[in-house]
Amino acid sequence: MASMLRFLFIGDIIGAPGIAMFQKWAPRLKELHRVDATIVNGENAMKNGMGLNAKIVDILRASGAAVVTTGNHVWDQKDLYLALNERDDVIRPANYPPGMPGKSYALINIQGHTVAIVNLHGRVYSKDNLDCPFRTIDSLLTFLRTKTSLIFIDFHGDATSEKRAMGMYLDGRVSGVYGTHTHIQTADEMIQQQGTSYVTDLGGCGALHSVLGMQFDGMLPNFLQHRKMGKFVVEERPPFVLSGVLVEIDTQTGKSLKIERVRIVDDEIQV
Ligand SMILES: [Fe+2]
Ligand SMILES: [Fe+2]
Repeated sequence: MASMLRFLFIGDIIGAPGIAMFQKWAPRLKELHRVDATIVNGENAMKNGMGLNAKIVDILRASGAAVVTTGNHVWDQKDLYLALNERDDVIRPANYPPGMPGKSYALINIQGHTVAIVNLHGRVYSKDNLDCPFRTIDSLLTFLRTKTSLIFIDFHGDATSEKRAMGMYLDGRVSGVYGTHTHIQTADEMIQQQGTSYVTDLGGCGALHSVLGMQFDGMLPNFLQHRKMGKFVVEERPPFVLSGVLVEIDTQTGKSLKIERVRIVDDEIQV
């Protein structure tokens, strides 16, 4: 079995441009960097940027995603709920209250190693009704550590402070903690003191000249006038961006050996 594994983590896919970027670049990055498994956050992958459905999970899987993570927008498309219950390759944050559809972690086999991917949601600035993400992950890790020491967290949240705190809270207990949700990549990728790799946000995949992947003209009234005045319309004009990290882990210890940011800007894709 391999003593080292390489992972590619990609942030929120936004609409058709995000899917097109993932379809083009995920296979290339896999080949170029000999990636063993790719994980992608698909919570905005619908054409209108709101949620995702089972067909989109299939499309992302066909381009190499082993697991699709999500966030607050996972509830936008009700026809996903059945897939969330039935499938193992799409997960939702663990700290939604009991009774919500879906699974909050995936256990995958990569080169003979069991690897756990966990989705978690921050509470700071969140409008959703969420349990404590710190206590939730404590109890989930008690179970997951009986299965594997190779564990990655997609921590979906707004506040850099909460994400940073989670990164340090889990240092030495998981292989990596990577933030999603803001659609903006942060430049603080690091290997922490106890070997857990971390980045506050992986960043988004969609139109570069946009606000959260949405058309600027539609978003501006949210800020100039009133929050509800704006319209969320996915920007589909190039150039597009794809963002994430490449990570190497030691399969004996579960610790990270390397983390490197990925950011590709491409103006050759037509959506
Ligand atoms: Fe998002
Ligand atoms: Fe989100």
